[in-house]
Amino acid sequence: MTASATTPAPSPAPRRFGVLGTGFWARTCHGAALAAHPDVELVGFWGRDGGRAAAAAAEVGGRGFDDLDELLEAVDAVSIALPPHVQAPLAARAARAGRHLLVDKPLALDVAAAEEVVAAARAGGVASVVYVTYLFQPEITGWVDALRALADEHGPWEGGLFRWAGSIDVPGNPYAGSAWRRERGGLWDTGPHALSIVRALLPPVRRVAAGRGARDAVNVVLEHEGGAGSALSLTLTAPAGAGGSFATVWGPGGRHELPRFTGTPVEGHQRAVDELRRAAATGEAHPLDVGYARDTVAVLAAVEEHLARPAEQRTTPVR
Ligand SMILES: NC(=O)c1ccc[n+]([C@@H]2O[C@H](COP(=O)([O-])OP(=O)(O)OC[C@H]3O[C@@H](n4cnc5c(N)ncnc54)[C@H](OP(=O)(O)O)[C@@H]3O)[C@@H](O)[C@H]2O)c1
Repeated sequence: MTASATTPAPSPAPRRFGVLGTGFWARTCHGAALAAHPDVELVGFWGRDGGRAAAAAAEVGGRGFDDLDELLEAVDAVSIALPPHVQAPLAARAARAGRHLLVDKPLALDVAAAEEVVAAARAGGVASVVYVTYLFQPEITGWVDALRALADEHGPWEGGLFRWAGSIDVPGNPYAGSAWRRERGGLWDTGPHALSIVRALLPPVRRVAAGRGARDAVNVVLEHEGGAGSALSLTLTAPAGAGGSFATVWGPGGRHELPRFTGTPVEGHQRAVDELRRAAATGEAHPLDVGYARDTVAVLAAVEEHLARPAEQRTTPVR
């Protein structure tokens, strides 16, 4: 894995933000957060469909753009809410144009595309933050800080179980029509959330193995540097009543459950904006920058590589 830091050149904190994307999350989270943020301006939305970009702007704020270069000219930073394989090349283009990056998870659907964003962020000297929702909620970051303090006192965490399950087939779910989710499943959609907690507490992931469950469900075994081991259970098609997320971590400091957070995604996004602005102004790489996001993509890609093996090469039959 690469070192995560992509040190930005210090620059004025970005004030003018543009949203790339016009879907549910672009409008209700990224756009709504920027429109309500006291220190920044929502310049508008870019979408491949100019009509949808104009409609998003009319609903949330700013104006609609169908020419990406025109939007990039008008902003200091972009906040991207697009399918990951669409996000990565556009993020690289924005970074090379000198625009700071607030990207969503996962950064890309393959390591090469993720590394292209990291290279572009370095070349453009821009700050970047990936919006891994849980790590922008105070109940979660407070819990992570407390567990890190316990590990300092008692010794490192030895393992954990991480269940992340969405239910996109339950009526009313806004992501039912999301093509990339249907194609790539919970591994790529909920996996980055689970890994955000795993990576906050356990050493770097060195090796993976995985098996399949119902529909898109994937069960992953992670071996960490230094000997810790953890397991993920991921899906985005959990039946009604079987979704949700929970995590347990253990070690010499005891056994601990991930708490629920009570804040909203909009509040979390506004914190991500604040942290991006701080990283740009100080020139200090954010710990959750595109280099960090690249390393998460590397874990997910390794799992996918494992799953692509014929069943007899990745599992042992029971006799
Ligand atoms: N952090 C979180 O908790 C959280 C929650 C939800 C979503 N997200 C992330 O937000 C991102 C977007 O998610 P989503 O649910 O909005 O995705 P989605 O429903 O699959 O995608 C919808 C948007 O992508 C646009 N799009 C699709 N293909 C495109 C292309 N080739 N070029 C340009 N635009 C294209 C669509 O445009 P059209 O309208 O023109 O089709 C629409 O605006 C994902 O990375 C997802 O993981 C994160």
